[in-house]
Amino acid sequence: MLNWNIRSTHKSNINPNELESAVSAYQKTISSVEIGFFGLPNRRDLLETTQKVYNKFKHKKYFVHIGIGGSALGPEMLLSALGNGSGVEFAFINNIDPDDLCRKLDKVNIKEALIYVVSKSGTTAETVAAMAIVLSKLEEAGIKESQFKEYFVFCTDPVKGELRKLTNEWGVEALEIPSNVGGRFSVLTPCGLLPAMFAGIEVEDLLEGAEDIQKHLQDPKVGQPFFELAFWIKELHDKGIHQTVMMPYSSLLKEYSAWFVQLWGESLGKEGKGLTPIPAYGATDQHSQMQLFMEGPTDKVLMLIEVEKFQSDFPLKNSLKADSFKNLSPFKLSELMKAELEGTLTALQENRKHVVHLKIPSLNAEFLGQLILFGECLTVMVGELLKVDPFNQPGVEAGKKYANQWLKNHQ
Ligand code: PA5
Repeated sequence: MLNWNIRSTHKSNINPNELESAVSAYQKTISSVEIGFFGLPNRRDLLETTQKVYNKFKHKKYFVHIGIGGSALGPEMLLSALGNGSGVEFAFINNIDPDDLCRKLDKVNIKEALIYVVSKSGTTAETVAAMAIVLSKLEEAGIKESQFKEYFVFCTDPVKGELRKLTNEWGVEALEIPSNVGGRFSVLTPCGLLPAMFAGIEVEDLLEGAEDIQKHLQDPKVGQPFFELAFWIKELHDKGIHQTVMMPYSSLLKEYSAWFVQLWGESLGKEGKGLTPIPAYGATDQHSQMQLFMEGPTDKVLMLIEVEKFQSDFPLKNSLKADSFKNLSPFKLSELMKAELEGTLTALQENRKHVVHLKIPSLNAEFLGQLILFGECLTVMVGELLKVDPFNQPGVEAGKKYANQWLKNHQ
């Protein structure tokens, strides 16, 4: 099971009333009908409809995933953490960079592809643009509108939006991002489940892992250390510690950091409050950002994730005489990773930095499921303590409005 300990000079001075009222607000939020992410591990219906769509299209050789923000980061994280054990080639179209799109589409035989368009709103300009381009490619390849249902699957709001309308017009399969689940909380909906199935990921285990955390946090007594962790982060926020580094010691969890950045940043950064998320991964970033984390301003909480057991390993045994080789010879590669992590933890502590040392026993679907729901719940609980609504993103709308204006003015 996922666990953690705090290494910091800041000792929490919990105000029991404040914590109690935040916990009860949090419990109310996660059990309310308007908020659906917490109940996703139990949504067998979503799993079953996704499975049906997978069965229908599993002969496809390419999986083209079109989406941005929460509609892309979660699925990409699942695949990069758990790998693609199937023969299906994936292309994630998560931006509107023409050169990147060109490179990605060049590798796809469109006639053998499933095109999965994920957009909760069904109107996001970047996603619509990419879909329009892929549609032209299909038309160039001689595919007629009556055949689109053999190529496209949508994942969108169950009732609203233009993708939903198109579903009926084209007769394509459309999976659901439930109305009460926001984009950045949608990885455990069909948004992430369908690509995960195509990659051969054990989605049941993923959901079971999330369910473990769900059960844990449903009980305020069992969940107490989690609530105290959120309170500690909030206390540090109030003391001006406004940045959060997410640093798994695993290359495969690099995209977990990217996913967390969106979740944490978009959910908590509002009304002049927020915690700037910084993505990192060890040991690589020890040779990059660590100097700043270690000796720069003490304005960060660092979350270091340890994977206790790797699935592969390599002996470092060698016959070379130079000290740098000889010293490593008795060890395995995973032990060097452990040494780097422990060394960094000790040095950060010596430098009076604020660290959370998280551990998962190994990197598999179950423990990734735990990390996912843990990250989401922590975001919501910190949101309650900061008194911001973690589920909206009004600041993003202004830029969109001016972008639309720009397009109108340049027609
Ligand atoms: O978390 C969010 O709600 C956003 O980041 C969305 O995921 C992102 O803007 C994409 O929106 P949509 O899924 O509606 O295309």
